[in-house]
Amino acid sequence: MKQIERLPGFRDFFPDPVPNPDLGRMAERQYIFEIWRQVARRYGFREYDGPPLESLELYKAKSGDEIVHQLYHFTDKGDREIAMRPEMTPTLARMVSCHQRNYKKPMKWFSVPQLFRYERQQKGRLREHFQLNADIIGDANKAADAELIALVIDVLRAFGMDHEDFVIRLSSRDAWQSFFEARCDEPEKSYSFYQIVDKLERETPEISAEKLGQIGISYDEVTAFIQKAQPTEDLQIILQQLEARGLGDYVKIDYGVIRGLAYYTGVVFEAFDRKGQFRAIAGGGRYDHLIKLISGNKTDLPSLGFGMGDVVLADMLRDKGLFPKPNPAVDVYFQILNEDLRLESIPHIQTMRDNGIAVEWPMTASGGNKQFKNALELGARYTITLLGGGMLELKDLKFRETQQLTMDAAIELIIPQSKE
Ligand code: HAM
Repeated sequence: MKQIERLPGFRDFFPDPVPNPDLGRMAERQYIFEIWRQVARRYGFREYDGPPLESLELYKAKSGDEIVHQLYHFTDKGDREIAMRPEMTPTLARMVSCHQRNYKKPMKWFSVPQLFRYERQQKGRLREHFQLNADIIGDANKAADAELIALVIDVLRAFGMDHEDFVIRLSSRDAWQSFFEARCDEPEKSYSFYQIVDKLERETPEISAEKLGQIGISYDEVTAFIQKAQPTEDLQIILQQLEARGLGDYVKIDYGVIRGLAYYTGVVFEAFDRKGQFRAIAGGGRYDHLIKLISGNKTDLPSLGFGMGDVVLADMLRDKGLFPKPNPAVDVYFQILNEDLRLESIPHIQTMRDNGIAVEWPMTASGGNKQFKNALELGARYTITLLGGGMLELKDLKFRETQQLTMDAAIELIIPQSKE
């Protein structure tokens, strides 16, 4: 049988040291998740999760054609139409519509789901990715939009990037809706119009002009509207609130953004790198009617949120050298150089682990050289060897110092270092 390969568009994540730089690194993924969680909590968001499989119907309701075409779906053994989640928002809307009564408003919730989309593979777009999703439910005030955008900015700042690295392109579906209504009296065509605007930057002007012509809208008027970038009243309030936080340099009005998903209703935004080298880092906005729709008209709550993917973000952090250096995996490598002391060594290893110290050791007999090499490869800060008579020999591999001490003294010395 030949070697079975990973599916295209899916990733493996290897522990350090990663054998080749093109492979996924688990340490990078963990680092991204840690910063996401840290900053979301700093803004008062609480973590939730849902199932990776949902009924297909959930996405057909209001995600829009593009994402529905990208679904991984199948019929299960109970004849149910199932989809792997391509985004988190419908799951959140479903969860909220069932249990929102038990939570004070506004609800500020975040999640770090793995998502699946059968996309055409390209740089920054895979068939599986993780997203930080943060949403505010039950607040119609523009202060909530500003709070959410500030969170996007602060997450990216926490990775060591600033306004020279990225920008939030801020737009409004309301503004586009008024534009559309003044030029077309067939409301059912508004979503087709949004999709043409969404693709303007990826499509040739001729193709966009032709598509717009089919719904009676002029390409020149659309581009003039984008160029004018006149902020609506809502956008002005949001800009003011971001300026008050000292984050004004991170945003610009840009009606070239409209968002592809069907459920957005008001302010929408996307985060991009300043040089325009990468695809969108994050995207979101208001979706004031989605919960009503998914709850079958039982619950009506204004909502807004964003998703930030890990793929483009990791490409950027790698490009800018912003990933931290690998951290030692273990604190101590406990050597067993004398097999007569093997059984006697085990309680010491256990005590150290009970004290929260990460310890690796040779589970079978091996030579001293091999053990030392192992310790170095694992990035251990110390090696320890049992000498007998309750004494240990501790070698600090960073400062190349050796000392003999008791177990208690060793623990006291190692614990503060292991928390660094
Ligand atoms: P989205 O724009 O489809 O929005 O995705 C958000 C972000 O996820 C994108 O900006 C991108 O960084 C990343 N992303 C999306 N698709 C892929 C892919 N195939 N490969 C790698 N990264 C990808 C949503 O998903 C909305 N549900 C966000 C939201 C939450 N809106 C309100 N609340």
